[in-house]
Amino acid sequence: MLTGMYLITGATGTTGGLVRELLLARGEAVRGMTRRPTRPDDVHGDYADPASLVGALDGVKAVYLVTATMNADHDLALLAAAREAGVRRIVRLSAIATGERWEGEVIAPWHLAADEAVRDSGLGWTVLRPSAFATNLLRDPVVNLTGDTRQGVIDPRDVAAVAVAALTTDDHDGQVYDLTGPEVLSVPEQAAVLGEVRGRPVPVVDADPDAVDARWRAGLRWALAGRNAVVTDHVSRALGRPPTTFRQWAEEVGRW
Ligand SMILES: NC(=O)c1ccc[n+]([C@@H]2O[C@H](COP(=O)([O-])OP(=O)(O)OC[C@H]3O[C@@H](n4cnc5c(N)ncnc54)[C@H](OP(=O)(O)O)[C@@H]3O)[C@@H](O)[C@H]2O)c1
Repeated sequence: MLTGMYLITGATGTTGGLVRELLLARGEAVRGMTRRPTRPDDVHGDYADPASLVGALDGVKAVYLVTATMNADHDLALLAAAREAGVRRIVRLSAIATGERWEGEVIAPWHLAADEAVRDSGLGWTVLRPSAFATNLLRDPVVNLTGDTRQGVIDPRDVAAVAVAALTTDDHDGQVYDLTGPEVLSVPEQAAVLGEVRGRPVPVVDADPDAVDARWRAGLRWALAGRNAVVTDHVSRALGRPPTTFRQWAEEVGRW
């Protein structure tokens, strides 16, 4: 059991917000990092201003690391400041397929460089590589970049639960978890389930993966080739319970 302050980066975002709430519910001491603090337990921190990370990390024992900026230098800056501050453990949010090659390109090289830096950091570490988030279906309209191909869509609450387990115990040190839900579903299939739960259709707009940020292209084309139609047992291994189904997520979170 690790006692002391937890720093949750990406605390205003999808998984960071959930990790913060789970830790608070356990009575842990938590600081949420954001570029625009609004809550009493927020702290200012911006990866583009490494000096700001020093204050954010003061007294911190473990960090939930979300960069979401597609820039491994940001992870390196956080890791350097964390080592300086005496942090003992990092749990990093990466993504499934990171480091695989597709059509001659490496998928998500920024995640790859950052994951390797975390593993080489000398700190305790866990890397979480989730599949597509169920919460992507909360966009209006839903943007579908993966056609009819299926993915092991995951409830971000499960990602957060694994993160909290990894932050608060030694049991997950040195683990790389590929986190998926219990089933593979395409975006249209997810929209159909969500529409059924809401009692009205969920609008979906198809988008061309070649028209988005080129850095996403290899990963999207890999998924379009059906390579992400994968279910793992890593949530069950980490939590001792199965992952949430998409329908359960839709009923508990997506019903508006
Ligand atoms: N969506 C998916 O299906 C999916 C699947 C697998 C993996 N992922 C990975 O998940 C990550 C995103 O995680 P998420 O969805 O939990 O987060 P998110 O909702 O995208 O939120 C991003 C967070 O990053 C913070 N941030 C942005 N720029 C920053 C900066 N310069 N300095 C400090 N903080 C900064 C934002 O905080 P402020 O704006 O408050 O500063 C915000 O809290 C990405 O790395 C993505 O590759 C996503």
